[in-house]
Amino acid sequence: MPVALGLRGQRVFVTAASQGIGFATARAFLEEGARVVVNGSHPGRLAAAVERLRPLGEVHGVVADLTQEQELDRLVREAHDALGGFDVLAYVTGSPAPGTFLEQDFDRWHAAALLLAVSPAYLARLVARSMLEDRIAGRMVFLASFAIREPIANIATSNVCRIAIAGLVRTLARELGPVGIRVNGVLPGYIATERVDHVFEDAGRRRGVPAAEARAAVEQEIPLGRIGAPEELARAVLFLGSDLSSYVTGALLPVDGGILRSVG
Ligand SMILES: NC(=O)c1ccc[n+]([C@@H]2O[C@H](COP(=O)([O-])OP(=O)(O)OC[C@H]3O[C@@H](n4cnc5c(N)ncnc54)[C@H](OP(=O)(O)O)[C@@H]3O)[C@@H](O)[C@H]2O)c1
Repeated sequence: MPVALGLRGQRVFVTAASQGIGFATARAFLEEGARVVVNGSHPGRLAAAVERLRPLGEVHGVVADLTQEQELDRLVREAHDALGGFDVLAYVTGSPAPGTFLEQDFDRWHAAALLLAVSPAYLARLVARSMLEDRIAGRMVFLASFAIREPIANIATSNVCRIAIAGLVRTLARELGPVGIRVNGVLPGYIATERVDHVFEDAGRRRGVPAAEARAAVEQEIPLGRIGAPEELARAVLFLGSDLSSYVTGALLPVDGGILRSVG
């Protein structure tokens, strides 16, 4: 039986979408007939992404740095103007610098907290207020990482600061559920993007082995035996951003090939 996601004409706002997971997410919504705004901080990369996406449907690009308050204000305003409102926010962001815990100084912690805790909370508030004003029973989907359940080596700031997304999802789900806005999170495992290539290069350098060897070691730990494709992650965001998940809110869904071992 074909499953209709009901996303045709829906207004979808995807942040950090000029490549990787955000880009795949924007493409997946466009393929379902949604109208989409994509964001990135680098004008050239965002313009190239918009060009690649344009054949799929209505897509607008808004350049803005997610770590700057005034740029977030402008981003949400311009995205709202382009779409006429929001039915779905798919929140993706950039990555903090890698490194062990002892390698991090005050500035690194500050930058990571801004990127992974302050920015999503501030953006969520702007989008929530817009959905409330427009009386939209919207959906928000926040990308986090499986590392918020089981910290992984050499991304200390991410392990610590990204946990804020879990608190944000649960807090918003309780506060906005009564007005029909659903809020969920996705916990990617290893997904094949530029970011994950850098993670394997860094891991290989630290262990004195080629990146391919570091990657193979990780793949051995994944029950499904491979790194995931961005499209596989995007399909989970589609589910949480559509009415297929109409009774799901406050959930944190791992999309990780089974790498998480912990129960609960
Ligand atoms: N790939 C994985 O296996 C994996 C696993 C768990 C979690 N994650 C997390 O998921 C997120 C996306 O990962 P990815 O693998 O898709 O990364 P990616 O390929 O490096 O893409 C990152 C995207 O974020 C944008 N971006 C970075 N900083 C930004 C900023 N300050 N403002 C606006 N846009 C910004 C980049 O565009 P511009 O260059 O134009 O700014 C780019 O489009 C990251 O937070 C990553 O840590 C990834």
